[in-house]
Amino acid sequence: SGAGLPLLVQRSVARQIALIEVVGQGRFGEVWRGHWHGEDVAVKIFSSREEKSWQREVELYQTASLRHAHLLGFIAADNKDSGTWTQLWLVTDFHPFGSLYDYLANNQLDCNVTLKMALSIATGLAHLHMEIVGTQGKPAIAHRDLKSRNVLVKSDLTCAIADLGLAVRHNSSSDTVDLPAPSQRQGTKRYMAPEVLDETINLSCFEAFRRADVYALGLVLWELGRRCSDGVNGACEDRQLPYFDQVPSDPSIEDMRKVVCLDRQRPGIPSRWDDTPLLVGLARIMKECWYHNAAARLTSFRIKKMLAGLNDASAR
Ligand code: ADE
Repeated sequence: SGAGLPLLVQRSVARQIALIEVVGQGRFGEVWRGHWHGEDVAVKIFSSREEKSWQREVELYQTASLRHAHLLGFIAADNKDSGTWTQLWLVTDFHPFGSLYDYLANNQLDCNVTLKMALSIATGLAHLHMEIVGTQGKPAIAHRDLKSRNVLVKSDLTCAIADLGLAVRHNSSSDTVDLPAPSQRQGTKRYMAPEVLDETINLSCFEAFRRADVYALGLVLWELGRRCSDGVNGACEDRQLPYFDQVPSDPSIEDMRKVVCLDRQRPGIPSRWDDTPLLVGLARIMKECWYHNAAARLTSFRIKKMLAGLNDASAR
């Protein structure tokens, strides 16, 4: 029961929301800015063909104790009969700055904001990854499609992780993963860890999914670093996706496998970063997210602590 609303109110939310404008185009139809009781909300609309994806994402959002400052806030799920077909709605918080991917195209970041964004994404991921035992508990969850397009920028310039449509939960008593039926959607090829690309990942091991998320987190940190300007001469790299100079646009699995698995390349670290302590620290963390050997990678908890350490160091 999202947002703690009574069931009767929740069932009719779609009738109470006015759709204002399209703000995004996802793999599953459109994301709209809507108005609900005088407030902006985001409405992700799935067609009935995509019911399984809608169902899965709603189920994940309704997982107990998932609410967190750095995870997109769930409000409601609803059906709307448009006369000829049924729309499936997912209503969440609305963040006017939009996705991190879009934000980085239009904005340079200072070191404070870079670190604040990095720390908030790592904190959101660590909360997702963590199992909390007890009545107020939550299962450990792995995201499986972490990328800058699935991160939203909040008005305080911290971030929230969105799109739980591919996420999997860990059942710790049976040590199993609730992987949905295969043939469904897979993650974004560009952000796939080497073991996902070459299909050596052990799909029955929950820890393996956490490690693949950490690899993707490293790529998002790299995207942030490129837009961090040290303020001395205001220069930084342009917004680019990871591997932009190593694979074609819309790369195939084969393209990615050649670069990431066979040649073991990783995104380049610009020499400019050597002059900025934050970027030196960030680069060190990224490299430890990108090990070919997944077991050697940092955990999201450790990354969160290391970033908090960079925060303290820069405050001194
Ligand atoms: N684009 C996709 N989801 C969004 C959201 N929740 N808020 C703002 N823009 C979005």
